[in-house]
Amino acid sequence: MTIRPILLHPDPRLKKVTEPVARITPEIEALAADMLATMYDAPGIGLAAPQVGVLSRIFVMDAQRDPEAEPQPMVLINPEITWESETQNVYEEGCLSIPDHYAEVTRPAEVKVNWLGLDGKSHEQEFDGLWATCAQHEIDHLDGVLFIDHISAMRRQIITRKMVKLKRERARDLA
Ligand code: NI
Repeated sequence: MTIRPILLHPDPRLKKVTEPVARITPEIEALAADMLATMYDAPGIGLAAPQVGVLSRIFVMDAQRDPEAEPQPMVLINPEITWESETQNVYEEGCLSIPDHYAEVTRPAEVKVNWLGLDGKSHEQEFDGLWATCAQHEIDHLDGVLFIDHISAMRRQIITRKMVKLKRERARDLA
């Protein structure tokens, strides 16, 4: 397993619509393992393939926040939301590609998601709470949408400007 570098916003690869995964290959298995390792290392509760520069429809998540409990790593390939509740939920979201910035985002409180597992089988499950928010945030990534696309243009611009500055500083530190 390899910890892969996480792309930071703004980056054109974070704005692309990703390609469906045709079948489970050793490359996909390795990508999923690397993505889980990268997510836990960050640490974060979700990570989508574009965030490590791979434009494929795959994300990983583990929204189990109780440190005493067993980890619940999930790998979702070609995920699709097949149902969403009318009830909405507001969560203060963040993103590993936009570190240190948070904003309240309103989304359906519950969603049903269909996906292809690493076992090659189709899965369907209903998610609520943080799991539902996380799944929707990650599926957004697969369509080139970031959580800041759900907030006001003014706040988005402020955050983007700060991120441009952060990336410039990091590039300078590496030089
Ligand atoms: Ni994110």
